[in-house]
Amino acid sequence: MIKPIIAANWKMHKTVAESVDFSQRLAKECEDLDEREVIIAPPATALYAVSQTLKGSTVRLSAQNMHWEEKGAFTGELSAPMLADIGCHYVLIGHSERRTLFGETNETVNKKLRAALHFGLKPIVCVGETLKEHESEATFEVIKKQVNEGLNNISTGDIECVSIAYEPVWAIGTGKTATPELAEEVHRFIREMLSSGFGESVGTEIAVIYGGSVTPHNIGELMAKPTINGALVGGASLDLESFTGIIRY
Ligand code: PGA
Repeated sequence: MIKPIIAANWKMHKTVAESVDFSQRLAKECEDLDEREVIIAPPATALYAVSQTLKGSTVRLSAQNMHWEEKGAFTGELSAPMLADIGCHYVLIGHSERRTLFGETNETVNKKLRAALHFGLKPIVCVGETLKEHESEATFEVIKKQVNEGLNNISTGDIECVSIAYEPVWAIGTGKTATPELAEEVHRFIREMLSSGFGESVGTEIAVIYGGSVTPHNIGELMAKPTINGALVGGASLDLESFTGIIRY
């Protein structure tokens, strides 16, 4: 049984003080909630302060991005060991905004994934098709390429630390959610790929979570689908009441 993951991606929102205040209140909300893996991904400026705030809590900390090199002349970047050093457990890799706005490719996703695993971070690898790809019925082809190339050369031992987030780009921040049926179909497809690439058990043990306009209102029907193991939440994770509504679906 995969523990459901509910992850907040705050993107470029919240000051340090706002992030700390939210995390304190969230940690309290989650005190009695062993049956969920709750994760927050604040902006990089707040990671250290939030990490201190979450000490002793069950809420896990994630970075939103990282560089694949350990150190060096990469102005503006943060490495996996730096993130691990300040208490990050997870890192988002290949979010569609990183792919479309900052030129990330399946190849850079793969490099980041391997570096994250090497330094003990648990990667949440984001995949998803654009509206154009969706409308031209290329969804499965795009997902296949993103999963195959993104997860290239990952060992069976390492893959167990990876989660996949299926986030149709046309559903992110738009208020349009994929129907639970469509999301389930893509999730099943991803699982089948994992099973055939890494072995039957991997396909059933890895968390595949859904992202794209998840709210307290639609989380229940998404989570009712057996192949959906959680949610990556943007807009609706910025407000504590709304985010806890999602956690307690
Ligand atoms: P959204 O964002 O919930 O605001 O659609 C999801 C994401 O980008 O991870």
